[in-house]
Amino acid sequence: MSHCAAVFSFTSIRIQISTSLPHRYQIGRAFQLSTLNCKLLVVARTPSISVVALAGFMGSGKTTVGAQLARQLAWRFIDLDERIEDASGLRITEFFERHGEPSFRLLEAAQLRAALGRTFETGESAVIALGGGTYAQAGAPEFLRAQGVPVVWLDSPIETLLARCMIMTGRPLFRDESSFRALHAQRLPSYHLADFRVDSAREPSLVVSDILRLGIFPNADPNTHVLVEEPQT
Ligand code: S3P
Repeated sequence: MSHCAAVFSFTSIRIQISTSLPHRYQIGRAFQLSTLNCKLLVVARTPSISVVALAGFMGSGKTTVGAQLARQLAWRFIDLDERIEDASGLRITEFFERHGEPSFRLLEAAQLRAALGRTFETGESAVIALGGGTYAQAGAPEFLRAQGVPVVWLDSPIETLLARCMIMTGRPLFRDESSFRALHAQRLPSYHLADFRVDSAREPSLVVSDILRLGIFPNADPNTHVLVEEPQT
């Protein structure tokens, strides 16, 4: 399908032609505008997006950006690592020491399911900051997709991630530079599966603005989007 970009202003409505529409958009009514010689499909914003997940490697800013994003949207903020600590009564480092990574991954997956379940049940809107490894676990991208949760990958150059993690403690998987780099390289293909990617090597407020501009939040951009299907001959 070929798309063209244009904005049409009418007396009382503004119709924006969008060139890229996320797969969650629903096609609404089709109608003809003979003067434009185009067939237009009105595409309504999906009103039901109420949860967004932030993925990304250690040090990518998931917690900082997630908390700010939630504040701006007036949505609840869920930090998956914090949920794990609350549920286990252990700091993440202690959990790794006592139970090991495989048990951590089981608890992480269970807490993600529980957090989403509660959010959907209560009808609350929420921003979820995943752990650095959550989205890289087998089945996680598929699970979030099946739940209809858009995933935003906070992407920063490895040097930035390293610099940030060097000065922070409490990350059992940050052992040394070479294993950090290797783990990052191993996980990159998973992060690429995210629905959206934003550059998170900048001020958190700028990252939040970029996320708000992705077009996934019902109230962030009130424009109606119109897809030009094909010119009529
Ligand atoms: C992990 C990242 C951590 C935490 C745990 C495991 C990982 O989260 O979930 O230490 O596998 O990369 P942050 O990315 O928030 O540090």
